[in-house]
Amino acid sequence: MATVAEIFQSMEYGPAPESEKEALGWLAKHERVFGHFIGGEWTEPGDVFDVINPATNQPLARVTNGTAADVDAAVAAARAALAPWKGLAGHARARHLYALARGIQKHARLLAVLESLDNGKSIRETRDIDVPLVARHFYHHAGWAQLLDSEFPGYEAIGVVGQIIPWNFPLLMLAWKIAPALAAGNTIILKPAEFTPLTALCFAEIADEAGIPAGVINIVNGHGDTGAAIVNHDGVDKIAFTGSTEVGRIIRKATAGSGKKLSLELGGKSPFIVYDDADLDSVVEGVVDAIWFNQGQVCCAGSRLLVQEGIADRLVAKLRARMEKLRLGSPLDKAVDMGAIVAPVQLERIRGLVKHGVDEGATMWQPTWACPTEGCFYPPTLFTDVQPSSTIAQVEIFGPVLVTMTFRTPDESVALANNTPYGLAASVWTESINLALDIAPKIKAGVVWVNSTNLFDAAAGFGGYRESGFGREGGREGMWEYLKRSHDGLTPVVGVARTSRKASSRKAARGAMPAIDRTPKLFIGGKQARPDQGYTKRILSPSGEIVGESPEGNRKDIRNAVEAAQAAAGKWSRATGHNRGQILYYIAENLSARADEFADRIDAMTEVGAKLARMEVDASISRLFTYAAWADKYDGAVHSVPIRGVSIAMNEPIGVIGIACPDAFPLLGLISLAAPAIATGNTTIVIPSAPHPLAATDFYSVLETSDVPDGVINIVTGDRDALAKTLAEHDDVEAMWYFGTRDGTRLVELASASNMKRTWATWEERNWLDAEDGEGREFLRASTHVKNIWVPYGE
Ligand code: NAI
Ligand code: MG
Repeated sequence: MATVAEIFQSMEYGPAPESEKEALGWLAKHERVFGHFIGGEWTEPGDVFDVINPATNQPLARVTNGTAADVDAAVAAARAALAPWKGLAGHARARHLYALARGIQKHARLLAVLESLDNGKSIRETRDIDVPLVARHFYHHAGWAQLLDSEFPGYEAIGVVGQIIPWNFPLLMLAWKIAPALAAGNTIILKPAEFTPLTALCFAEIADEAGIPAGVINIVNGHGDTGAAIVNHDGVDKIAFTGSTEVGRIIRKATAGSGKKLSLELGGKSPFIVYDDADLDSVVEGVVDAIWFNQGQVCCAGSRLLVQEGIADRLVAKLRARMEKLRLGSPLDKAVDMGAIVAPVQLERIRGLVKHGVDEGATMWQPTWACPTEGCFYPPTLFTDVQPSSTIAQVEIFGPVLVTMTFRTPDESVALANNTPYGLAASVWTESINLALDIAPKIKAGVVWVNSTNLFDAAAGFGGYRESGFGREGGREGMWEYLKRSHDGLTPVVGVARTSRKASSRKAARGAMPAIDRTPKLFIGGKQARPDQGYTKRILSPSGEIVGESPEGNRKDIRNAVEAAQAAAGKWSRATGHNRGQILYYIAENLSARADEFADRIDAMTEVGAKLARMEVDASISRLFTYAAWADKYDGAVHSVPIRGVSIAMNEPIGVIGIACPDAFPLLGLISLAAPAIATGNTTIVIPSAPHPLAATDFYSVLETSDVPDGVINIVTGDRDALAKTLAEHDDVEAMWYFGTRDGTRLVELASASNMKRTWATWEERNWLDAEDGEGREFLRASTHVKNIWVPYGE
């Protein structure tokens, strides 16, 4: 007789299908054909396209391809619904979000099956991961609606938001987009991906049932053109996009200069780093989750396995053994690990990239079992002998394909991990807490999982930087993406008051000041540097008096300044907050000692009068104190996530920031922008006020006497927009701030698409003298991005 152990060994899985009856019934109720959901009503179906079940390649339904007129109608409905929705008390919106969460839970099974049918992902995942997380997002954001007034004072909803989502987590991406937008008081036009529109349509019905007012949520279906019509619509105030970096770049360019707020969650090639002391059995299960979860169609998939050399062979052997046991098949079978790839084109793309990898000379391995031949299935695939520069090591495959590389030392692992244009997520495996928490901050990624992978929660922000996009979804950090400063209650902007006094009388009052008193230079790498070309510009006051000269920096000067800022970045980012604060205090002290001279210079350049000029200097000194104070106080957070562990939200410097200063307030504008940037550990290249640059050139000597490390602040004077464009194009500049004209904003936002750097570009004027308008957390947020480090604990 067989022992129990033997029976366990020889036992086969029987089929355990989840019933599709309810989902098919829902489709039948709609006669398997759908219009859009606009203003609380279904529109008549128009020009339709087929929606396919990728596990069978059979059509499930037909859905209408949205036209420009459909998008117009949806925007109009959202606009009409905005004022009443935004005007509701936070508590009322909280109740609506709560009702949505309940509605999701009530229809959980229908949604899970429908998602599996449409996308091909396993029912185990839709039932246990996607749908519960969707409900969790609505509950969590019901809370933010309730707390909006008290936790985000001075902020309000942006308006009508356009949201475009991908096919890999259709309902979950909808929730990540809709929940925070609604909590903040925005109204919505959402376009699901063309491969997977069904759960969004079902959600529209659930939202309607739950009593969400008509026009607050509008769902428009369609392909890329429909998405583009939303992006380019004048009536849309913000675009939130998740999808490919390629389309993200198109959207960045399309919205440049439009004033639309933008958040992008794009691709990745995330490293999964294993050190030689890691628990290899846990690592194997981690890898399964990292790259075979959702068939690898996950933006943050751990698709690059980086293993310390000594354990590589052992780990690969264990992985192959585990891969032999993975079960792939019908997505509705409750006992499969992997379902189908979303669509034939995606399957072809994966096949093409795998073939490319083989052609490049890497070793490809797949389990011996056979894949179903009907439907879009692809087996789990492991590459070894991969060159770091090869296509399969660099390009996002978005399929169940893992590439393995080895490293010797922790430093090497960081270099290899960061050898990618992306910066979305990373996983770090080691039993040493010291090593894990040393490595996590060094990895360029918005999320780092320690001894875990693919953990998500509504309370912790998700998102990346570099070519993975910008902005966060989830948590307090995600709420900012759907809020703008509300202008009520702000003091009106004080323009530069030009006095009509004659130059001569002012001169008499000031005493004789030589007209040209300096050899104009730039400030690069801590030194006063001659500009590449000898051109200088005469600086005139508004009444035409010569105040001095300043150099016209060019492309080459910007390059030198970026190099200096890059060289200083690592050390400055690691300096303690206390040290950075000390240096800011020291700058303030040295500026204060020369306050009269700076006030005179500002008055001479701008003719604002002695009083306002002096106010500007005093405000600059105070502002330096503000950021000296913040330098050791801009703390992160520990998010309450539902795991045994913590998610540490760290405010990290962005890196090298380019700053084009406003024309007005030539000293205060510069300090208001450079001080928060350096207080938080960034290094900067500053383009001072173009008409009035001499307060900046005078400032060099203040910096020189204040122990500011070389390269932390670099200053290049000249044509603001031309220099800003060069900075915005530069791949080693990680963020670009611009305070100028609308045309200049467009220029900067367009140029930023080269490496998808974060921009803060505006033509809106500010009252820099006013503490609410000119300083504070808004500036600190712009200077940092949140990295969430997940650290599970317990044995
Ligand atoms: P995609 O980026 O084209 O599609 C995402 C969404 O954008 C869809 O709703 C689509 O209709 C819409 N869209 C397409 N062109 C648009 C345009 N010009 N303006 C506005 N919206 C537009 O992604 P696709 O083609 O489905 O997949 C291609 C590759 O992108 C995948 O193989 C994968 O590498 C990557 N991808 C990454 C995702 C992520 O979450 N990071 C999600 C989906 C795809
Ligand atoms: Mg489909």
